Amino acid sequence: MSPSQDRDALKRMAALKAVEYVRDGMVVGLGTGSTARHVLELLGKRVSAGLAIRGVPTSEETADLARRAGIPLLSYEETWSIDVAIDGADQVDPQLNLIKGGGGALVREKIVAAAARQLIIVVDHAKLVPVLGNSYPLPVEVIPFGWPNTARRIEALGGKAVIRERRGRIFTTESGLYILDLHMGQIDDPAALEIQLNRIPGVVENGLFVGQTDLLIVGTQRGVEVQQAAKQ
Ligand code: A5P
Repeated sequence: MSPSQDRDALKRMAALKAVEYVRDGMVVGLGTGSTARHVLELLGKRVSAGLAIRGVPTSEETADLARRAGIPLLSYEETWSIDVAIDGADQVDPQLNLIKGGGGALVREKIVAAAARQLIIVVDHAKLVPVLGNSYPLPVEVIPFGWPNTARRIEALGGKAVIRERRGRIFTTESGLYILDLHMGQIDDPAALEIQLNRIPGVVENGLFVGQTDLLIVGTQRGVEVQQAAKQ
C-alpha cells in the first residue's frame, strides 16, 4: 500500500468510528475534504438502512456528495440547530486546536462548527503536531477588494502571505473570497492570533479553530483513538 492509500485507510477507520455518534433525528454538520468524504459515504449507508437525519453541508462538493448518498439537506437560509458537526482538519495540537481550510471551505466550516453543539474532528495520526503552523501555512479567507493591502497587514503580524492560485488563476472560494496562505512558522499563541487576524479589515475568517473541538478521533496503525477535549 502507498503512504497516501495507507493514510486514507486510517481516515476511513476513524470516520467509521465518528458516524457511530450520529443518532436518529439529529441535524448533522457535514465537513469538507477527503476525510469528510468517508464520513458522508458511511452516513449514507446508515441512512439507506433507515437512519433519519438532516445535514448542513459546508461546501457545494459536500452537498453534492450528500445528495448522492441520500442524506437530506437543510437550506443555507434557515436557522440550524446542529446536534453534531463532523469534519476533518489539517493540523491538530495537543489542546485540540486546529488549522483547517486546506480545502478552501474554512468560513463555511467555521460557521457550521460554531452552530454545532458538538464538534467531532476526524484525522489520521500524521495530522497531530506538538505546535500548530511550522511547515503548514495558515489559510486566511479575505475579501477580494484591496487584497494586496490586506496581505501586507496580515504580514505585519509575521510571516509571508501567499495568494492561493489554481491552474494559474487566483482561487475563489464558494463564498466569493480569496485565500491568503500565511507561512509564519510556529504559532505559539493560536487564540491571540485568531483574534488579531480577524480584526484586520478585509479578513473574513482564518483557519485557526481554537477551543472548538469536543471530540478528536484519530486513525492510527494501532487502531482508532478517541480523545475528549478538556473544556472549561
Ligand atoms: C477543508 O477546507 C479543510 O478544512 C479540510 O477539513 C481539511 O483540509 C482536511 O482535509 P482532508 O480531510 O482532505 O485531509
